[in-house]
Amino acid sequence: MCGIIGCAGRGSDTLSVLTHGLNQLEYRGYDSAGVALGGHRVGVRKRAGEIEALEQALQTDAPTGSLGIGHTRWSTHGPPNQDNAHPHTDSTGSVAVVHNGIIENHQSLRDELKAAGHEFRSDTDTEVIPRLIEEYRVEEHTAAEAFRAAIDRLDGSYAIAAVIEGVSAVFAVRNDSPLVLGIDTEATYLGSDVPAFLGYTDQVVYLDDGEFAELRGSAWEVTDGSGHPVEKSVESIDWDIEQTTKGGYDHYMLKEIYEQPTALRQGMSGRIDELAGRVTLDSLADLNRPDRVQFVACGTSYHAALYGARVFHELGIPAQSLLASEYATSPPPADDSLVISITQSGETADTLSALRNAQSRGAQTMTITNVVGSTAARECDHALHTRAGPEIGVAATKTFSSQLTTLNLLAEYLTEDTGGRDPRERLLALRDLPGDLLSIIDDSRAADIAERFRDAAGYFFIGRGYNHPVALEGALKFKEISYEYAEGLAAGELKHGTLALVTEDTPVFAVVTGDGETADKTVGNVKEIQARGAPVVAVTDRQTDIARYADAVMEVPETHPRVAPLLANVQLQLVSYHVANALGRSIDKPRNLAKSVTVE
Ligand code: G6P
Repeated sequence: MCGIIGCAGRGSDTLSVLTHGLNQLEYRGYDSAGVALGGHRVGVRKRAGEIEALEQALQTDAPTGSLGIGHTRWSTHGPPNQDNAHPHTDSTGSVAVVHNGIIENHQSLRDELKAAGHEFRSDTDTEVIPRLIEEYRVEEHTAAEAFRAAIDRLDGSYAIAAVIEGVSAVFAVRNDSPLVLGIDTEATYLGSDVPAFLGYTDQVVYLDDGEFAELRGSAWEVTDGSGHPVEKSVESIDWDIEQTTKGGYDHYMLKEIYEQPTALRQGMSGRIDELAGRVTLDSLADLNRPDRVQFVACGTSYHAALYGARVFHELGIPAQSLLASEYATSPPPADDSLVISITQSGETADTLSALRNAQSRGAQTMTITNVVGSTAARECDHALHTRAGPEIGVAATKTFSSQLTTLNLLAEYLTEDTGGRDPRERLLALRDLPGDLLSIIDDSRAADIAERFRDAAGYFFIGRGYNHPVALEGALKFKEISYEYAEGLAAGELKHGTLALVTEDTPVFAVVTGDGETADKTVGNVKEIQARGAPVVAVTDRQTDIARYADAVMEVPETHPRVAPLLANVQLQLVSYHVANALGRSIDKPRNLAKSVTVE
């Protein structure tokens, strides 16, 4: 949510480094964007709307400077207009600040600054920061001290970067909002997320809460809250810039759907020995089998949690899935619980807050995340990485599939020593999963089905058992990017209310895989739907006779019952994509949404 880029040491390339970084970060927010160049004088340019609007303005009127900061915004305080866009400045325009997060005491600071004569230009909480720096510059000796004194006054969550007139440094600080340095021989970068500067360096330093950074070209320093230097390790990132471009696809989302076979292969590589029936997860070597598990997550990751809880339960570990935003008011974890957060970004505020809550209640914690070095990965006791590669489209696709795969691996790993079970069939099905996904991607009829149903009044998605989370995820994806009404339900629940909304103008996507009682019951529900005249699209491996009652079929290969839902989900991802595309929606940057939501 909101993106920050900064750099020092790139001389006359500074502006292009900043705008490139903003484009790389646009998935974090796209209401408005701005840059500030500094070194000698401070020059700020900002525009409402997407980054393109800023770039156009810069073509005729570009600031110059040897270092700078930039920001793309997902608005929290005040509407997304030019005044509220970052960077924000002090009253003389000699301090410019960008900020992610929320300043909780901004109102009292604003009142205090107003009383001292400041006239605010924006509705944002951020604007108090440059004005505080301005005030402290009068009292303090150096710009660095003024920056630190201003930050000392703030309550809340923040990643902040600033440039100050006459000072050849970018100042930064982090508290509860991600900030990472990129280190190169001639220059230093700053990003709310690694893709911001991935084109220039793969060497990174993760800031921890309460740490300050000063970037001066090739020189950089990290200090703690009292100003003492902190020894930081420089780490290498194994993502490359190619992975963060569209690579010939119309949208990141489509590219990321197509990348799923590779993403899952990467996620499983070196972790499965299907013949021996063994899973190896090196990062968890010192984790003992927990008595029970609580999963906490939001959005798509919560759907992965619902799926994960079923897998764990079936393999003998009692498990619950809880919405992270409800965790603080949920019953506490039982003794010997392992609390596992599932979070693609590792930065979702609700999820971090749930993790911290679990820690404060004495629980052991783990995170399943795609982002190495993310806050969740660093704060919990154990981290398990999904290795899907960077995901740029706001709607999660490949990271969801990776989460489901990783949950299977984790459950097998933790129950390895349980007698009387043979995981080989399941592991073989996982091994074959990338190939099965490829066949779906190659043969899917999603584009035709989307064309046929794109003008419907609403859409329902139903499934039972392992296919229930898939139905929920199918509906979430659909509404996120098509902006059409969509609801996902447990198949058995439809008749308890929502059936009242089912008409011939509301297609129902029914996910039915495998055979047996659970699948047959869903077929029964489909008959009820058909009797009400609604078109049915069956997503199925044809192990039941559901195709007889369906108006259209999207087929998935037969596989293990626990793996089949991953295949069905990809068919639904493709339908959502094609409907949204046919309707001309903004697929990679859906309105009102952001990929990484760092406020509660
Ligand atoms: C946002 C995104 C969703 C995502 C959710 C949780 O709402 O738009 O796509 O599922 O955050 O994100 P996480 O990074 O914790 O998985």
